[in-house]
Amino acid sequence: MTIALPKGRIAEDVLAIFKKIFNEDFEFENRKLILKKAGFTFLNVRNWDVATYVQKQAADIGVVGYDVITELNANVLELMDLELGKCRVSVAGIKGDDSYKQKTQIKVASKLANIAKNYFNKKGIPVEVIKLNGSIELAPLVGLSDVIVDIVETGNTLKENGLEEKEVIMHSSARLIANKNSFSTKKKKILDIVEKIGQVHGA
Ligand code: PRP
Repeated sequence: MTIALPKGRIAEDVLAIFKKIFNEDFEFENRKLILKKAGFTFLNVRNWDVATYVQKQAADIGVVGYDVITELNANVLELMDLELGKCRVSVAGIKGDDSYKQKTQIKVASKLANIAKNYFNKKGIPVEVIKLNGSIELAPLVGLSDVIVDIVETGNTLKENGLEEKEVIMHSSARLIANKNSFSTKKKKILDIVEKIGQVHGA
């Protein structure tokens, strides 16, 4: 069974769960992108690519944020909330300045362009979404946008940049997902691992 993990903290947390289950060390060596152990093949992929690996069945299961699944509208099965990497997707802007609410069209900078667009569309508010790839907080500071739609975890990045959370769009956390074909052909093995994760992780 092949498992796609998002590089970084979440991958480490998931490998720690596997360590608890199998009582063996699970760790990517040096810069290796593949780890084979105990009948599993782990892939070390970028956060945004996990859903692609799973959707195209290069991996049977994977771990990815609910925000990413929503943004990509990924055609995968969601098996379990791992309750790791908890965060919010929020509208944020300059502290004390709510003038964006009076605009006839709001300029929104975001990495989560679809979530941002859908959120304001549903409220019937015209938006121009400016797609960025990172350091989103910079946009309202230099007038590139009125507000941003971004991930808020501790809120420190907003605070350090003189911004504040204005509206919470959704809550997110890491989810265990499966390829739909894999789930039918490897159902027993996949459900077995879901059960074992539940036992040691209490999710
Ligand atoms: C995310 C997000 C915020 C920050 C929020 O960025 O885009 O910038 O984390 O975390 P905080 O509320 O705990 O400060 P990430 O580190 O993923 O980098 P990015 O700017 O490349 O998106």
